[in-house]
Amino acid sequence: MLHNKNILIGITAGIAAYKTPLLIRLLVKEGANVKVVLTKDASQFVTAQTLSVLSKNEVISDFFDSNNNWNNHVKYAQWADLIIVAPLTANTLAKIANGICDNVLLATLLSSTCKIMLAPAMDLEMYQHPVTKQNLTKVESLGNVIIPAENGELASGLTGEGRMAEPETIFKNIVNYFESNLPLSGKKVLVNAGPTYEAIDPVRFIGNRSSGKMGIAIADYFSEMGAEVIVVLGPSSYKPNQKSVKVIHVESAEEMYTNCMTHFKESDITVCSAAVADYKAKEISNRKIKKQDDSMNLELQKTKDILFELGKIKTKKQCLVGFALETENLEEYAKLKLTQKNLDIVIANNARSAYGVVFGSDSNQITIIDKSNKLTKFELLSKVESAKHIVNFIINYLNSKV
Ligand code: CTP
Repeated sequence: MLHNKNILIGITAGIAAYKTPLLIRLLVKEGANVKVVLTKDASQFVTAQTLSVLSKNEVISDFFDSNNNWNNHVKYAQWADLIIVAPLTANTLAKIANGICDNVLLATLLSSTCKIMLAPAMDLEMYQHPVTKQNLTKVESLGNVIIPAENGELASGLTGEGRMAEPETIFKNIVNYFESNLPLSGKKVLVNAGPTYEAIDPVRFIGNRSSGKMGIAIADYFSEMGAEVIVVLGPSSYKPNQKSVKVIHVESAEEMYTNCMTHFKESDITVCSAAVADYKAKEISNRKIKKQDDSMNLELQKTKDILFELGKIKTKKQCLVGFALETENLEEYAKLKLTQKNLDIVIANNARSAYGVVFGSDSNQITIIDKSNKLTKFELLSKVESAKHIVNFIINYLNSKV
């Protein structure tokens, strides 16, 4: 969920700063990129060294570092998809509420356009003070999210409201924020990927060079966009990065067909990227075939065309996307597949592009064609980049339909 999300953490001078490294650990474990801005006084409570090791990034505390290099707060602000200030002191709260900008954290906050979450931590009377309450209301009305302080034992020895929310609670708020803001939250997606292996005998099979990388990258990005994703994956040594992607391992075209049919009914979007074998052995020998004559005939029979079968039962609400891997007449053949297989979108993939062979490699050159025959061409891109373009294209296509 947080894979590749850029999260900036501001730490101000409260005793609760000792808990913020736990939050950073949770975020990094979930795949987020984390950077920290630590105010000078906050470094009395937690060291830049600890934060730097946990976040795997340099920590900044001032506009200039020890070598007089400028820490560009605007760059920091633009980098972030989300900023969290935890703990937030009464002093920094008051400054944010009034647009004061006398340190690098405040300058970063003022320069940012992303959502800001604030986790206050104060002593009992400070948290209850009318000015604090007023400031909290004011910053909230300006669009910041307040993660309220909790009840409990406070550093002063008093008991009451003012403890910073626990790192796990702040973490949950962050995950919820990203989930609820994703364009595909609530949508179900089915992807098939990889090659299929069609058995000839117990040791041999008919296969192809597909790695499954393209489909896996598509599944990952769908998941990053909030969808619930199932991948029906042929034999591949790769797996999705996103833990929430459910993988169903299959071997043959028949197994892939059965699993796709089962999950297609409830899927809003289906992308068939698998290099399904077009033919399988008519008879599978249950013993290893011994070598005999100089030549040998193997009778093959057609496998089911999964995409074609899905196209036949597709409802108006569903979006069906296929691939067309061609060595010649790319666009012409791809458009034919679009209509013959009743697709919404086809991704034309040149198996022998000017850049070389795409199968098994990390990059490819795609052209996306929609039902109105509009062509969107891309340069040679990594499969991860291509996947983003494909998923974003599908999102725009769905938005234009409603
Ligand atoms: N496909 C499928 N089942 C098959 C063969 C292909 O679902 N038995 C799907 C692929 O996953 C892809 C699309 O059909 O999304 C086009 O596959 P491709 O190999 O380009 O073309 P074919 O339909 O197999 O036709 P041809 O080999 O003649 O180009």
